Amino acid sequence: MKVAVIGTGYVGLVSGACLAEIGHDVTCVDVDPAKIERLLRGEMPIHEPGLAEVVSKNVQAGRLRFTTSYAEAIPGAQVISIGVGTPSAADGSADLQYVFAAAEEIAKYLSTYAVIVDKSTVPVGTSEQVAERIRTIFEGEFDVVSNPETLREGKAVSDFLKPDRIIIGATNEQAANVMRELYAPIPCPKLVMSPRSAELAKYAANAFLATKISFINEIAHLAEDLGADVHEVAEAIGADARIGPHFLRAGLGWGGSCFPKDVKAIRHVGHGAGHEMPVISAAMSMNERARSRPVERLDEALNGLSGKRIGLLGLAFKNDTDDTRDSAAIDLAKRFLAAGAQVFAYDPVAVILDLELLNTISRVSSIDEAISEADAIVIATEWDEFRALDIEKTKKLMQGNVIFDGRNLLDPKAVRAAGFTYLSVGRP
Ligand code: NAD
Ligand code: UGA
Repeated sequence: MKVAVIGTGYVGLVSGACLAEIGHDVTCVDVDPAKIERLLRGEMPIHEPGLAEVVSKNVQAGRLRFTTSYAEAIPGAQVISIGVGTPSAADGSADLQYVFAAAEEIAKYLSTYAVIVDKSTVPVGTSEQVAERIRTIFEGEFDVVSNPETLREGKAVSDFLKPDRIIIGATNEQAANVMRELYAPIPCPKLVMSPRSAELAKYAANAFLATKISFINEIAHLAEDLGADVHEVAEAIGADARIGPHFLRAGLGWGGSCFPKDVKAIRHVGHGAGHEMPVISAAMSMNERARSRPVERLDEALNGLSGKRIGLLGLAFKNDTDDTRDSAAIDLAKRFLAAGAQVFAYDPVAVILDLELLNTISRVSSIDEAISEADAIVIATEWDEFRALDIEKTKKLMQGNVIFDGRNLLDPKAVRAAGFTYLSVGRP
């Protein structure tokens, strides 16, 4: 099939490359000329394991191309997938300006029947609004389908090619069949439903996963005071098939470009519809606690943070990504700096977008530089290289002896045996 993908971010680029991988003829469009130039040079604009290989293979096979021009991509495309950003507006709602701008630009170049796909995460009713905007410009036949994306950063390529399910929100069989054909090579259940259900399902999935993490963090904080180990508790409850073992890792709370904005957005929609949304509000307040508690515990362990040197290991919101949007590590860095500490941070690939933070944090290029002379080190992202931290060397390089392991990567017994004051999340 001839496919156009609008937006070449984490979702657009991965979905464009993977749709080419399963045999489609794909043109990716982005309004950012610098991004497109990099892609045309064969460079990846994001860090995503396995993506460069899929892109390069499909570009060489002639199935994948990049452009800033809608005029090149839209005419003749049977499927046009919108994967642009939907960031939080000041009131917590999803800002849809990029989605609507893309829809209007698409409409200018439509000539024959096409299915326009909302892949971005958007509030219930958006596919109807997208259709209305297109209809004011294009008088021909088209359908808008909601097809929310469920990939995770760091595992995006395999999540896209081997998902648990594909959600298709379509108003008629013709559009649903186009989507079934699009995804035919991907073996998983295709759940066809109304666009409104599909849109709500995406927010419900992210809010549920965020709530699950908040729940285990609440249990973790309790475990610390009761002498239990949250890993053992998670193993025990996760073995119950009704609960499941995934997303029960206690830590610094959920961050990233999606959970925080999507949880705010569904709450905003709920409030607008007259619902209190108490479960989601509780998940959010627990997430704030998961961020503030480490600062309090480190403050206590160091007898105050002012003037202390902290070696921060990790800046990305999780491992295997360069994304720092709403990262717990960045949030902690800001809190330490606000308390008067100096922060020496190392992350192998993270991209810091916050200019104020760039001016106040000391970004270094190795673990050794981050921990040298440190009063305390804080592990904030679960990169494999932090799991393999050389404890004896760390002892020699640091000036203090406090380790706060916000991701529970190290072995408490071994670290304590080496003479450290070791703090982690939910372990005695
Ligand atoms: P992103 O910020 O990485 O990328 C968005 C891209 O869209 C940018 O390259 C931007 O230049 C481009 N763009 C903006 N307006 C455009 C326009 N009018 N025409 C063409 N290109 C335009 O965003 P992302 O992380 O890929 O997220 C995109 C959407 O997918 C969001 O709604 C997000 O919630 C959802 N989502 C993201 C993930 C994820 O892991 N990042 C997973 C599932 C769903
Ligand atoms: C998440 C969802 O997992 C995807 O299904 C969804 O498509 C995506 O959001 C989205 O809508 O954008 P992602 O944000 O890439 O994917 O990362 P996750 O692996 O879900 O992690 C999110 C946050 O939760 C991270 O801060 C992570 O450290 C934290 N987390 C995750 C935990 O603290 N504990 C866990 O057990 C799992």
